[in-house]
Amino acid sequence: MTSPITAAAFSHTPVLLQECLHYISPITALKPFVTRGAGTGRRRQGLAPTTPAKDTSAYTFVDATFGGGGYTKAILERFPSARVIAIDQDPAAFKEAEALALKIGGDRVLPVRGKFGDMVALLEKELGLKGPCIDGVVFDIGVSSYQIDQGYRGFSFRTDGPLDMRMCSDKVHGPKYDLLANSSLTAEHIVNTFSEPDLANIIYENGDEKKSRRIARAIVKARQAESIKTTKQLADIVLKGAGKYVGAIHPATRTFQALRIYVNDELNQFRQGLLAAETLLKPSGTLVGVTFHSLEDTILKNFLRTTSGATIGLGLRYYKEKGRYGYQGIERYRNRRISEVSSIAAMEKLYQQDIERLEERRKELEEGREVFDVSKNQGDEEGMKPSFQILTKKSVAPSDEEVERNVRARSAKLRAAVRTESEPMGATV
Ligand SMILES: C[S@@+](CC[C@H](N)C(=O)[O-])C[C@H]1O[C@@H](n2cnc3c(N)ncnc32)[C@H](O)[C@@H]1O
Repeated sequence: MTSPITAAAFSHTPVLLQECLHYISPITALKPFVTRGAGTGRRRQGLAPTTPAKDTSAYTFVDATFGGGGYTKAILERFPSARVIAIDQDPAAFKEAEALALKIGGDRVLPVRGKFGDMVALLEKELGLKGPCIDGVVFDIGVSSYQIDQGYRGFSFRTDGPLDMRMCSDKVHGPKYDLLANSSLTAEHIVNTFSEPDLANIIYENGDEKKSRRIARAIVKARQAESIKTTKQLADIVLKGAGKYVGAIHPATRTFQALRIYVNDELNQFRQGLLAAETLLKPSGTLVGVTFHSLEDTILKNFLRTTSGATIGLGLRYYKEKGRYGYQGIERYRNRRISEVSSIAAMEKLYQQDIERLEERRKELEEGREVFDVSKNQGDEEGMKPSFQILTKKSVAPSDEEVERNVRARSAKLRAAVRTESEPMGATV
């Protein structure tokens, strides 16, 4: 099934657009602020820019998920001399970026087709850009309304289509895009060939689906009678396996999300994309991430916590008032370790080893065999310095008006941070 790639039909309403514009503006200096929220009286604290950026002519932004170009267009309007590198792996989105580049002219839109996880290599190969050269990167993670609405892409069961789900599918777009297609892994291949336990794990891990085992069993049983080829077929099988609707949500929603995430390796792409952004951002450059479910948000949150130093290891701290040394940040450290290792048992082992190492050091300090630098009272055992400073202490959610206008925005969360001058940490989360 081959369909023409049309640029004109691309429709997607950008989510949290004003918030994204606010946080993407590169920041020249930060000062701490404390305010009381209007109405609630709740205390808010964070970091605010002190001096507005002056010269915007040289700004280069990366829109890592161009889609229909909602963010790119708003950035170009807000910074009239800046340019935007528009990345997307989807040929339809790329075509849209090419059309915008032509319309705007002046090399202000630089379309790049590829995966944002490969951003460092892509920018070097396509544009000759290397090292910290970017003033702001935005990720708007997930799938666009356009992709969902095109039944032949296989993302949705609302319209029947082939079970493909690749964001860059050679089958849909023709052999020209072979190189970018996510190998031959389609949702159809997964549901028809993967073992029952593998299917259950994929659905549980990527869809947070409690009925994953029942659904996997139903899929395996159904495929013994005939292979599962279409979205509608799969949705009916899941409906039978998972039981009734809960509210208005179709029981297959989570299964479809899980398969899409797995087919496109979305979570690893996001991890790699964040690492790439850390390498490419200049000091004072900003990172903005918009996510739509907790799996993505947790990756972003942990990445920012780790790189901002909020969870850089377990350290020793001198408690003046108590006149003794103690450990700093145990809980946060444990949480970080949990996200790094595959099992709780492995985490406990690492944790125990680190505690023993610190215990040894504490003895050395107390016996005066080593001098503790109180001014560096950061618990930073490996000498790492934060590569980001978090701008959003809590995630930013869309306003009620936005959710009313665009129901897709209801689960969106935005987090932002500013790049410091320190070396990239390359932390995996
Ligand atoms: C939610 S949409 C972005 C919408 C966009 N912000 C707008 O305003 O129109 C996400 C886009 O990211 C693209 N995408 C998802 N994962 C990607 C990846 N790993 N590399 C490149 N593009 C990706 C999808 O193809 C899709 O077009």
